[in-house]
Amino acid sequence: EADSANLLPLLENQWGAARLEHLRQIGRIAQQLGTPAYLVGGAVRDLFLKRDAPDLDVAVEGDTRALAEACKAQIHSTHYQFHAQFGTAILESSQGMALDLAQCRLEHYPAPAALPEVRPGNIQTDLARRDFTVNAMAIRLNPQQFGILLDPYDGQADLQAGLLRTLHSRSFLDDPTRILRGLRFATRFQMDLAPESHQQLKQALQADIFTPLSGARLWRELRYLLELEALPSALPLLSAWKLWFLLRPKPPASSTLPTLLQRGHEQIQWLQAQFPDEPLDVFIPMLILIWQDVRLSDIQHCLDRWPVPDRGRLLADLRALPGLPETLLKAKHPSQKANIWQGVSVAGILAAMAIYADNATIVDSARLYLQVQKHLPSLLNGQELQTLGLKAGPSLGKTLKLLREAQLNGEISNKENAQQWLIKQGILPPNLL
Ligand code: CTP
Repeated sequence: EADSANLLPLLENQWGAARLEHLRQIGRIAQQLGTPAYLVGGAVRDLFLKRDAPDLDVAVEGDTRALAEACKAQIHSTHYQFHAQFGTAILESSQGMALDLAQCRLEHYPAPAALPEVRPGNIQTDLARRDFTVNAMAIRLNPQQFGILLDPYDGQADLQAGLLRTLHSRSFLDDPTRILRGLRFATRFQMDLAPESHQQLKQALQADIFTPLSGARLWRELRYLLELEALPSALPLLSAWKLWFLLRPKPPASSTLPTLLQRGHEQIQWLQAQFPDEPLDVFIPMLILIWQDVRLSDIQHCLDRWPVPDRGRLLADLRALPGLPETLLKAKHPSQKANIWQGVSVAGILAAMAIYADNATIVDSARLYLQVQKHLPSLLNGQELQTLGLKAGPSLGKTLKLLREAQLNGEISNKENAQQWLIKQGILPPNLL
């Protein structure tokens, strides 16, 4: 029987002794408190996929807070947070293992695409509220039954067949974010929807199920999608599942978008290797690339609905991109080129490097800007210029800009020749030195 498989050998094989002992310990603590506990969700799926699961989700029947606090004390957690409202706790063990505890729930959807009403439940109801069969498996943690698999929906078989199957026919209508979660799982694990789930997807789209979904929830799912390393492989699925309308008015006309996104990823990786500390939202260059051939007026309603960070910036980048080859060609001096790049965000520059990958002039100039020009320390700052006798005000700002341009053009390289240059320009009196 599928329900009674003991996964101990697989657990021992797949996860190191430390992680296994960690789970056993949680099981022992749960036993003492009389609260059955189960490993659930992605970690169980990833165990069968032989992938390393970064964090462990544990579902608890009973008093989650009591279990969380006992775990906190006994596993010497370095980090602990309990959310009374959701009955969830986050812990991190001293060995750096992340653990999420959550009370088993029963969910009821009062309306399509609305947030569910939640009540305490047991492991059966907790598995029943989940998105796909492959995510609806649990492993018992209590000592006598440690390692026993609960698989009421035959997720293991679907996983082997590479199929994403919903648990019931209303699943996508209840929660359309499951469609985008499914798209991500399909992309990451090279799976596909089971035929009847595909049918349910069609029905959900016919019912316009994304319309009542809030922009914030939709954007969150789209952002996760855009962040996927394997994003180029998601594009054929966006076509097959007829989901392009979420991102653009029409599917992309040409087949170059996967290549474009691939190049975008390479540029992001290049930048991150150069400047590991520079924060970068990787979904922004991806969004720019997906939108680079779309009319701005067709994007506006997405940006009005979604909480995309720095919307104005993104639109300005999209506006600047088409003209870049011409304006850069016209720019003669390094400072002029740097000024052009300065008007584009880092994300926009990365997108430009992907779009114009065959144009060495553009790519080289973008790299020079990102690597060198953007980070040039100023040779004389405003304070120093005032010490030299210049007055504060707009003209000081202008002088600073001139200095930066001279520096970019290689005319000056240190404080001394910067001062001489200012004298030559008539900005400082000649008797100064
Ligand atoms: N889940 C669900 N429906 C949602 C969100 C989550 O059924 N809308 C359940 C699934 O059982 C899922 C688990 O909660 O496996 C954990 O969700 P999440 O952390 O978002 O994804 P994982 O499956 O853990 O996958 P990964 O972390 O690898 O992305």
